[in-house]
Amino acid sequence: MKKLSLFTGLLLLGSSLFAQTDNPLIRSLISKMTLQEKVRLLIGGNNVKFEGAYKDVTNKVPGAAGFTYPLRRLNLPSLVLSDGPAGVRIEPIRNHDSSKTYYATGFPVATLLASTWDTALVYKVGEAFGNEVKEFGVDVILAPAMNIQRNPLDGRNFEYYSEDPVIAGNIAAALVNGIQSNGVGTSIKHFVANNVETDRTTLNELISERALREIYLKGFEIAVKKAQPWTVMNSYNKVNGIYTSENYDLNTTILRKEWGFKGLVMTDWGGGRHPVLQVKAGSDLLMPGEQKQFDEIMTAAKQGSLSLEVIDNNVAKILALILKSPAYKHYKYSDEPDLKAHAKISRKAASEGMILLKNEGGALPLQNNVRKIALLGDASYKTIANGTGSGEVHKPYVISIMEGLKNSGYTIDSQSTTASADALAGKDDAAIITIGRNAGEGSDRPVDGDFTLKDNEREMIRKVSAAFHAKGKKVIVILNIGGVIEVASWRDNVDAILLAWQPGMEAGNAITDILSGKVNPSGRLAITFPMKYSDEPSAENFPGTSFPKQARAAIFGSNSTNREVDYKEGIFVGYRYFNTFDIQPAYPFGFGLSYTHFDFSGLKLSASSFHHQLIASITVKNIGEVTGKEVVQLYISAPKAKLEKPEEELRAFAKTKALKPGESQTINFTVTPDDLASFVEDRNAWIADKGIYTLKVGASSVDIRQQATFACPSEIIVENTHPIHYPKAIQDL
Ligand code: GLC
Repeated sequence: MKKLSLFTGLLLLGSSLFAQTDNPLIRSLISKMTLQEKVRLLIGGNNVKFEGAYKDVTNKVPGAAGFTYPLRRLNLPSLVLSDGPAGVRIEPIRNHDSSKTYYATGFPVATLLASTWDTALVYKVGEAFGNEVKEFGVDVILAPAMNIQRNPLDGRNFEYYSEDPVIAGNIAAALVNGIQSNGVGTSIKHFVANNVETDRTTLNELISERALREIYLKGFEIAVKKAQPWTVMNSYNKVNGIYTSENYDLNTTILRKEWGFKGLVMTDWGGGRHPVLQVKAGSDLLMPGEQKQFDEIMTAAKQGSLSLEVIDNNVAKILALILKSPAYKHYKYSDEPDLKAHAKISRKAASEGMILLKNEGGALPLQNNVRKIALLGDASYKTIANGTGSGEVHKPYVISIMEGLKNSGYTIDSQSTTASADALAGKDDAAIITIGRNAGEGSDRPVDGDFTLKDNEREMIRKVSAAFHAKGKKVIVILNIGGVIEVASWRDNVDAILLAWQPGMEAGNAITDILSGKVNPSGRLAITFPMKYSDEPSAENFPGTSFPKQARAAIFGSNSTNREVDYKEGIFVGYRYFNTFDIQPAYPFGFGLSYTHFDFSGLKLSASSFHHQLIASITVKNIGEVTGKEVVQLYISAPKAKLEKPEEELRAFAKTKALKPGESQTINFTVTPDDLASFVEDRNAWIADKGIYTLKVGASSVDIRQQATFACPSEIIVENTHPIHYPKAIQDL
């Protein structure tokens, strides 16, 4: 019989010599596991054959995106992982038996939730959302998706929050805390820089370390430090030549050593190319699970090119996830969450995130004498609740704008889509035109006819406006969209524009709540609307350069990276670009109208010189006629140093309570060293420069109401970081 080396013996018998965990149960479990069992656990539950493999491993919750492998010998259950960011995405009907259904609440999409600028409200959405995750038998929801909206044409922007990492990070943290308060897990995704859908699984992105840290990583950093999501999901793409799921610097050095992330990292479904590199990089769980992954990892372990220590460490993180899951606790889920109660939360959140972009001549709220409405545009009748792909939800219903208006007692002219504009203007009190846009993962949007209006849409707005204005009647446009569109060329024709985004299943009711004045709009833009697409700083390099086959093989070898995107604008994304280089937007970051008005006064700083922290307080007063909420935005302009900096950056925000006419509220912000710091690549550190800072408080990034200066008497090294080691550009590969 072949003599087993001590090393092989250790491998086969399993050992917990190396596992970096102080949990005795985890150490004990690892010590009982064979190498095959350990490697099997590193890979999702999809069918993988090996000696002793169970044949009957299936997804307990039909329609869920994936599941982990059950190690029944040690009483370790399979965990269920389900999409998506706007609701639990599972099959609504099972075994063709519709006597019992499994519909889930369609919450508003992420970009609308961010537009509420209200972390307390988003937490409440998370509480309801997390309850459905638990009651449908899911252990981890693959949400929130929180990549930066670098370019308006990105097909997944509906699933993401903002062009700004402070919004993205804080809204994500609120949702994670709300969901996880139910004892279920989340997965903040896609780590990192999934900002292009074209060739998303193989493309390479060239991003400077400063832009990575200040823009693309910063939101994830905030979410990890404020919410400790149970898991993080990698993106598909490469950054500077390395797949993110294979990048030790991202998954271990930055995420765990610098930020203190304690949870598990999983790959996106089929993401990356080299399972052994993924295991070494700290991608603990390779989803959804493939035979070749098991085979390659086993081979590497037996050959000694993959250490048992690394395997044990990753297994320890999977065990930690399992031990805190509802499945491990044998939670008896009902499959019957309170959808009625959650629909109310969905409707409230939707109306709080809608943005009034234009309102002239008292067009909104609809006057009492406006009862009969000409309702135009397909999306008025087939209203879009959410985008496509894994961000979809199987909802019990979607309330269209037509139904929402009818529910509130308005009469819809049944000839709205057939009669001529003049005929409609003769008999209806006002016209509402809905512009709908949809997109989703796997493809990006075109400019013509998607970012810009279609010819028939332009013609409809022109004709209807001419006819109704001739009768002194109003025209309102509703934008039922998942991403930014062009508005400058047509907005002067209409009286009001309501940006409704994709508001979830209560869409029509929430939109009517705003139109009728039942809810005073308080949403604010978390992404800039440019005058034209070419004004976008990334317009010239989105979606990047594709490489024909022959060039690809020459440059990248077998790795088949067939597209490259050069993030030339660096940190100058969104308002950081428009404000710094004076490019006039159609609607600026942070903008949104209300049915009332607010006055800002009394800005006070706790000190004129910065030491450790500083408190800024401001009073906001409702000086209008109706109750409403204001979003108070705090921006900081740092002193110009050798490092180029944005004109100003959002550092904090707060939404007031509902202020009655004449009522005031004082908001206090704490400014920390982080809020003053820039990332200095050649010093591997976050540094706050010595000098004079300007603290600006406003109602948008360009509507600054009060400002004050303070000095930072000496340079502050806020945080030292580890140097990130990878090629800076493609030719280094
Ligand atoms: C998809 C998406 C990811 C989703 C996963 C599971 O490719 O990129 O967001 O959670 O696969 O469906």
